[in-house]
Amino acid sequence: MAAALKFVFSSFAVRRDVLFLFCAENMKFGPASRRIVSRLGGRLRGAAAADHFTGKSGSSLDVIAPAGLDVPRLVVIGTGKGRTLTSRDLTKLGGAAMGKLPKAAAAATIFAELGSGVLKADQVADLALGARLRGYAFDLYKTKRKDDDEKGPKRIDLNFACSNPAAAEKAWTRGAAIADGVVLARDLVNEPGNVLYPGEFARRASALTKLGVGVEVLDVAAMRKLGMGALIGVAQGSAHEARVVIMRWNGGKRGADPVAFVGKGVCFDSGGLSIKPAQNMEDMKGDMAGAACVVGLIHALAARKAKVNAVGAIGLVENMPDGKAQRPGDIVKTMSGQTIEIINTDAEGRLVLADVLHYVNKRFKPKFMINLATLTGAIVVALGQEYAGLFSNDEKLAERLIKAGDATGERVWRMPLGPEYDKLIDSKFADMKNTGGRSGGAITAAQLLQRFVDKTPWAHLDIAGTGMGSPQNDLNRSWGSGWGVRLLERLVEDHYER
Ligand code: BES
Ligand code: MN
Ligand code: ZN
Repeated sequence: MAAALKFVFSSFAVRRDVLFLFCAENMKFGPASRRIVSRLGGRLRGAAAADHFTGKSGSSLDVIAPAGLDVPRLVVIGTGKGRTLTSRDLTKLGGAAMGKLPKAAAAATIFAELGSGVLKADQVADLALGARLRGYAFDLYKTKRKDDDEKGPKRIDLNFACSNPAAAEKAWTRGAAIADGVVLARDLVNEPGNVLYPGEFARRASALTKLGVGVEVLDVAAMRKLGMGALIGVAQGSAHEARVVIMRWNGGKRGADPVAFVGKGVCFDSGGLSIKPAQNMEDMKGDMAGAACVVGLIHALAARKAKVNAVGAIGLVENMPDGKAQRPGDIVKTMSGQTIEIINTDAEGRLVLADVLHYVNKRFKPKFMINLATLTGAIVVALGQEYAGLFSNDEKLAERLIKAGDATGERVWRMPLGPEYDKLIDSKFADMKNTGGRSGGAITAAQLLQRFVDKTPWAHLDIAGTGMGSPQNDLNRSWGSGWGVRLLERLVEDHYER
């Protein structure tokens, strides 16, 4: 069972089971840390030498029962060569420290000082964010505790010893808002399809009203009235009715155009009549990671009272084979009026997004639209799990996303768009078809989306590789990664707040 984490910011080290210190390459400690280390006499040097520990980035040194210190365990985390550490580095360090916490520890102190000196308040909050994200585990459905866990604490007090506890505490209100958004997104992605079907997803998104977010839920009748034939077509083989949820956070200037985020929310993607192979089909419970990110992002923005007007819109469906399911060869009419010939019912995400993108564009006239979708296996082949695919019709927006990606570690790689790719989805019978063949599969999917965004600055993030089952790193040990919340929160904070 994952223990609840409680953060305490203080100017002194409180009672604890573990003390964490940071040190740069060549055993370079900050002044306050050096004073602690000196209490061990030469013993730390000895332990470091025995372990070939020098403070390299990614390395750590465990000292059990350090003589001279009133703590049963000292962990030294290496921060590497003396370049200035970015907020991304600090978040990773917080995660690394959390990862070194012994299973039995119920209280730890992280000494918030680097070789270069004390940390500023928002740097302390970065450490805390990393620790919180690393500490996440989804164990809602584990009814039996393992022996190991039995001994673990129910609650862990993490104490950040820093020079400016009040300021750090304040900086953490922003960090906590972001962390809560990521955790919410991860929970949604990890939930199984039998629990999190469109109606239930809509209810969970509706809980954002508690933070002052305006939430509207469209049912199928409302969608039919609007003419969302593509989205409805995907959902018609499922026993669960589709939903579209619109979330609005108005923290910006009254009447200022909003920024808009749109998510693919396929709560389970069996492929429909073009059914998927059984192997790994269970992963398709996570085919709503785009929608989960949008909900997590709006949560984060509202919780930290961001000075921006933001719209989040998610298309929630289940893609199932059934007597009522849509067929290959069917032609659907989208809300935009354009028609789509269904070639493969497993290329369903673009159909859902086509209607939601058009709806959001028409209704809100946003400054930009960014959509997130676990859209294609092809993007996983192209980029693996480290980068999400970025497709955009706008240089400035693309540039800003790439920068926000580098700053947060949720990185995006620009992929091409162009008329040569676009013509691959022309159809014999309708305005377009929903697949463009095997080659360039992620690009032809993006080309279809682009036909529904008009001239509005737009970016599509294909997160099939990053949103779920993504590599385990210093900040994430969960299957559902919550990818994109930190990226887009940073984008908004850096460029779109008044
Ligand atoms: N949800 C899948 C894409 C996917 C695959 C996400 C693997 C995460 C991991 C999507 O709906 C899909 O099935 N895409 C097809 C499109 C094809 C039929 C044109 C694909 O990528 O194979
Ligand atoms: Mn599919
Ligand atoms: Zn899908």
